[in-house]
Amino acid sequence: MGCLFKFLTAVFAVLCVTAGKELSSRAAVRKLPEGLLFGAATASYQIEGGWNASDKSPSIWDTFCEIPGKIKDGTSGRDACKSYEYYQRDVEMLKFLGVDFYRFSVSWPRVLPSGFADKVSQDGIEYYSRLVDELLANGIEPSVTLYHWDLPQSLQDLGGWANPLIADWFEDYARVLYDALGDRVKLWITLNEPKQFAIYGYGKDVFAPDINSPGVGDYMAVKNLLMAHARAWHLYDKEYRPKQNGNCGITIASDFAEGISDSPADVEAGNLALDFEIGFYSHPIFSTTGGFPEKLVKRVAERSAAQGFPRSRLPELTKDEIDFIRGTSDFYGFNHYSTRFYSAEDYKSGMFEEPSYDDDVGAVSGRGEYTTAPNGYTTKIPAGIRKALNWIKDSYNSPEIMIFENGYGDYGGVNDPDRIDYYKAYLDAILDAIEVDGCNISRYTAWSLMDNFEWAQGLSVKFGLFEVDYEAEKRTRTAKTSALWYRNLIASRTLDPADNPKYEKIEF
Ligand SMILES: *[C@@H]1O[C@H](CO)[C@@H](O)[C@H](O)[C@H]1NC(C)=O
Ligand SMILES: *[C@@H]1O[C@H](CO)[C@@H](O)[C@H](O)[C@H]1NC(C)=O
Repeated sequence: MGCLFKFLTAVFAVLCVTAGKELSSRAAVRKLPEGLLFGAATASYQIEGGWNASDKSPSIWDTFCEIPGKIKDGTSGRDACKSYEYYQRDVEMLKFLGVDFYRFSVSWPRVLPSGFADKVSQDGIEYYSRLVDELLANGIEPSVTLYHWDLPQSLQDLGGWANPLIADWFEDYARVLYDALGDRVKLWITLNEPKQFAIYGYGKDVFAPDINSPGVGDYMAVKNLLMAHARAWHLYDKEYRPKQNGNCGITIASDFAEGISDSPADVEAGNLALDFEIGFYSHPIFSTTGGFPEKLVKRVAERSAAQGFPRSRLPELTKDEIDFIRGTSDFYGFNHYSTRFYSAEDYKSGMFEEPSYDDDVGAVSGRGEYTTAPNGYTTKIPAGIRKALNWIKDSYNSPEIMIFENGYGDYGGVNDPDRIDYYKAYLDAILDAIEVDGCNISRYTAWSLMDNFEWAQGLSVKFGLFEVDYEAEKRTRTAKTSALWYRNLIASRTLDPADNPKYEKIEF
């Protein structure tokens, strides 16, 4: 009896230790690592409005929203949260949350109405300059994304990201902003989520600019955006870093992908999907060899040949281009929402249009056993963020990772326990990635500061910590329960599973 008891106690202890390592102690209050910075993020087209203010020219999203049927609820970002007018309230909200930094983006056509750097809009520059000053006056670090999808329509008329000259245009645009704001902005993000604007905008018809050239136009955009990013980084590195002393890098959508089963075919499908989802953009920049992932190159070449193309649909990167792109990010910018599971077995030839990105991936994906909450848009799979962080750490020699987006979409409501549960579970997994796995993570950013124009979903899907009243002239912002929770997290520097704040009405 005593012996069995001792044995069982020992087994229990071992199980506890194992569980602690694998899953962490979900019931325990966890201290946040010292030095981990917290922020919130937005993007110009999603919040600013002021679509025709002063000399601003239309962006590809202004154009896209005019096409009937493109935006689920028929809305647009013409007015959105009116942050162009009311940015000071955004800063008050950030101050209320107690964040260390604010990640926002600059609208290219607001700053350069022709798209080119021949004429800089004084009103455009002054808007961002005032925002930066307001942030700094409130002790909040500005971190600026140069491109979060609102390309000047004038440049799209010349091919946009499918034209290799965009590398010149983007470098010129970057220089204007380094010159205007670089004395105060020390953290630059060149491009936000390359896959989303290249594949969905050039290979499909679901995002601006609606080019719909599957497996061809999208891959042209991928090569050109990598070159444009590298040009903006080299410019900063050579000419601006010595006097401005900041950091510059890219942020990549890094949702996780894995096989839906342990069958070798599914595992292989999951690995190839990771190459398409993340590696397509990260391998050229962060790997020691540079260039596109080898398996992806082989796959597209094989499919292209089988389809009768005399050469691969994937544009080649020359040796010089590979060298030029490699190593051009001071950190790994990491955006993450969820995970998809891939099945090779379920894939049948002809399921997807040929040629296309989806056909090149060559597997069927879904959310596996996971379901989305009734009012939810994002599927909560917290184990996936830890796997994605580890995949980056293992693939690229443990770079410094800055999480620039993570958050939960739903269909509205100021009392949002599902969003709080999502943040708690994902942060718990992130703390495991830091403390158990040794991932080097320096920043965490909640997407989003407030509800905003969610691209093709219009205003119907909400990611905000603050609700926005789109009927109100002043676009009143109201703190959701999740804003109160995020504020507690930052103030206490602890992740407390039992912290469930009670809703109270706080308006900005
Ligand atoms: C901007 O567009 C609005 C309609 O959305 C219009 O009423 C206004 O006159 C325009 N302003 C300028 C400066 O063109
Ligand atoms: C994390 O990355 C930063 C920047 O490269 C570096 O200074 C720091 O030493 C790294 N920390 C760890 C624990 O590797």
